[in-house]
Amino acid sequence: MQSTLSIQDLNTTPSSKRIFIVGGGIVGAALAFYLSKANTDRHIILLDRSLKKSLGSTGHAPGFVGQLNESAVLTRLARDTVAEYLTVPGGFNTVGGLELASTEAGVQTLQSRCEKARAVGLSAEMISAEDAAALAPDFIDPETVRTGLYFPSDGTANAQVITSYFTQEARDREVDFLEVDVVGFARNDGEIEAIRTADGDINLTGSSVILATGIWTSSLTGDKEVQITNFPVPIIPVAHPYTFTHPRPARSGKAYPFVRWPEHHVYARDHGDHDGLGSYDHAPLELKPEHSAIGTWPSSFDKVLSEATSHLKNGRDFLVQGRQDDSDPFEEKKPFNGIFSVTPDNLPLAGRVSDVENLWLCAAIWVTTAAGTAKLIAREVLRGSQDGISDSDVEVLKALEPARFQGVEGEVLTTQALERYNNIYNKEQ
Ligand SMILES: Cc1cc2nc3c(=O)[nH]c(=O)nc-3n(C[C@H](O)[C@H](O)[C@H](O)COP(=O)(O)OP(=O)(O)OC[C@H]3O[C@@H](n4cnc5c(N)ncnc54)[C@H](O)[C@@H]3O)c2cc1C
Ligand SMILES: *[C@@H]1O[C@H](CO)[C@@H](O)[C@H](O)[C@H]1NC(C)=O
Ligand SMILES: *[C@@H]1O[C@H](CO)[C@@H](O)[C@H](O)[C@H]1NC(C)=O
Repeated sequence: MQSTLSIQDLNTTPSSKRIFIVGGGIVGAALAFYLSKANTDRHIILLDRSLKKSLGSTGHAPGFVGQLNESAVLTRLARDTVAEYLTVPGGFNTVGGLELASTEAGVQTLQSRCEKARAVGLSAEMISAEDAAALAPDFIDPETVRTGLYFPSDGTANAQVITSYFTQEARDREVDFLEVDVVGFARNDGEIEAIRTADGDINLTGSSVILATGIWTSSLTGDKEVQITNFPVPIIPVAHPYTFTHPRPARSGKAYPFVRWPEHHVYARDHGDHDGLGSYDHAPLELKPEHSAIGTWPSSFDKVLSEATSHLKNGRDFLVQGRQDDSDPFEEKKPFNGIFSVTPDNLPLAGRVSDVENLWLCAAIWVTTAAGTAKLIAREVLRGSQDGISDSDVEVLKALEPARFQGVEGEVLTTQALERYNNIYNKEQ
């Protein structure tokens, strides 16, 4: 993809009508899409250091979308998101989501989730071990589980297909894309006055910037030398192992649902011509990302994966030994360490940064909630203060407010965020 304009073009014709989006993963692309769909005179420009190949988390996500979250805000955003993905050609497969339990406590957790889902109008059903195994026979040995919870409207999002669609639609509506490495910002008088890039500064003259930079966000909002905002931005990148089976013929019959073993912090999906599996069953591992969302392979992950695969009937078909080399592990279908973000309360940081007039964040967002969140933030960016807004939107925006961690020590926030990593049902909430 060719960049359509240059930094020089931008600087020779200053304008306060611009909105810059930094980051072209699923979140940045969705922002470009929704901003460009609105009837506005604003000029939208998306910056990413790599437009041809997705280097961010979006390029590596298996894309499970489970809509029922213990956070009502995330449930609402996930439902909005699924409604959007269903309109994208090839974007979403409603294969269902299946959770399994083998202990009494696990069964009770699933029962209470089932009730919670129904209370908010999401379809959910408790099913027997045999019925669960029949939905994904190669994965599930009915002897090893007591019950299942099935969510028929969940499924898998094809994050790259969706991102390409949003990008193309945005281009068709005259969004400009510029391939450039953003290295920082110049702040003056409570405003960002320039975006610093490896190819020179971009003058902002009153325009806005939205950071959709995923795991790189906190490295851009300020280190010790240059602090862009005085609020903490606790978006903590963490390591996560994912692996595959060797290629196999496609299965006939009904597609497998996405399967989770919450008691073991393991999940698996059918990728068509091979299977994939991920595990959260290890101590959280904070990581500083380089240029891509794939980190070096910690040797301890070999054991994590071999334990994880022991819960699947076809566990032996999975590769469990990682090895570091230069090939793309997602393309090569071998174990990899994918990086994504955690936050102290599991919620994204999305909205205007209240101590910087023209800076917005839209980060720490999963594929599961990307379109719904981006749509809401796009509307906020364009909203004149007089316009009406629903009470439920006000509530969601308040929950996502980037300044909400004010006054809490950075180390405390990091610890809280890391605790979220493998606590998938957040029992303390
Ligand atoms: C192994 C793995 C499994 C996952 N499983 C799931 C799942 O099942 N379900 C789910 O919902 N989510 C899952 N996720 C999480 C999901 O992938 C991410 O939350 C989501 O893709 C984040 O999208 P994003 O657009 O915010 O970030 P990214 O896709 O990371 O995009 C950020 C973009 O910003 C650009 N950028 C960053 N800094 C700069 C800079 N300084 N200058 C220029 N450009 C910059 C990057 O190049 C990148 O393109 C998983 C992630 C991984 C890694
Ligand atoms: C940006 O452009 C404006 C208007 O042309 C000018 O007044 C300002 O000095 C420029 N700022 C920077 C940082 O170059
Ligand atoms: C709720 O969402 C958070 C953040 O995306 C995630 O870590 C957690 O696993 C989700 N809970 C369930 C039950 O899926």
